[in-house]
Amino acid sequence: MRTYLPKPVPDALLAQVLTDARRAPSSSNLQPGSFLSVEGEARKRLSSALTDAWRNDQREDYAYFPQPWPMAMRRRQVAAAQALYGALGIAREDQSARDAQFARNFQFFDAPVALVVTLHRDFGGAGHMDLGMAVYGLMLAAQSHGLATCAIGAIASYPDLVRSSLQLDAHCAIACGLALGYADPGAPANQAETTRCKLDDYFRVIA
Ligand SMILES: Cc1cc2nc3c(=O)[nH]c(=O)nc-3n(C[C@H](O)[C@H](O)[C@H](O)COP(=O)(O)O)c2cc1C
Repeated sequence: MRTYLPKPVPDALLAQVLTDARRAPSSSNLQPGSFLSVEGEARKRLSSALTDAWRNDQREDYAYFPQPWPMAMRRRQVAAAQALYGALGIAREDQSARDAQFARNFQFFDAPVALVVTLHRDFGGAGHMDLGMAVYGLMLAAQSHGLATCAIGAIASYPDLVRSSLQLDAHCAIACGLALGYADPGAPANQAETTRCKLDDYFRVIA
């Protein structure tokens, strides 16, 4: 969900959602990673610095997407973008409207809760897998409490900036951001509907 009602999330409810998320399994029960709730002036500073860096093309990291793109992945990415921009009524050639929507990533979609998810940089893929389970646990727990979320990989393209803005140690890898709050059910952005690839595309039997 990418549009939220201006309705605060009670601290106790956020704590419950985070507690539920931490029930996620992890390798040897290591429970790696941290969830930082960024609020007040710190949130304003972070959003403004991220927006400036993006406008000035100061991207630091491309780790989120495979380089080069496998064609099937590229097609899925385009379809997801079409679902979002189509729901918003933004034409493919309307770059300024697309940019305005993309910039909303850095405002955490104005959600009442803005989380930054970090992981010690010494963890490899297994740590990210454990943390991904916790993030998904958080998303499901939020949904079960009437809340909605959107993961924001876009902020992970600016790890140095996020660390310096939030005064985090150099060992903190920035996994993603997360918007959390009560979704505005009628908002155009929240009408975007994605599909999933066919079972045959990712499952096969080897005998
Ligand atoms: C790790 C992760 C990072 C994501 N980053 C972004 C993002 O930066 N901006 C955004 O609008 N959506 C982001 N998304 C949402 C995906 O685009 C979305 O989950 C996908 O298109 C499937 O849509 P659905 O979740 O509505 O079914 C992210 C999702 C995940 C899991």
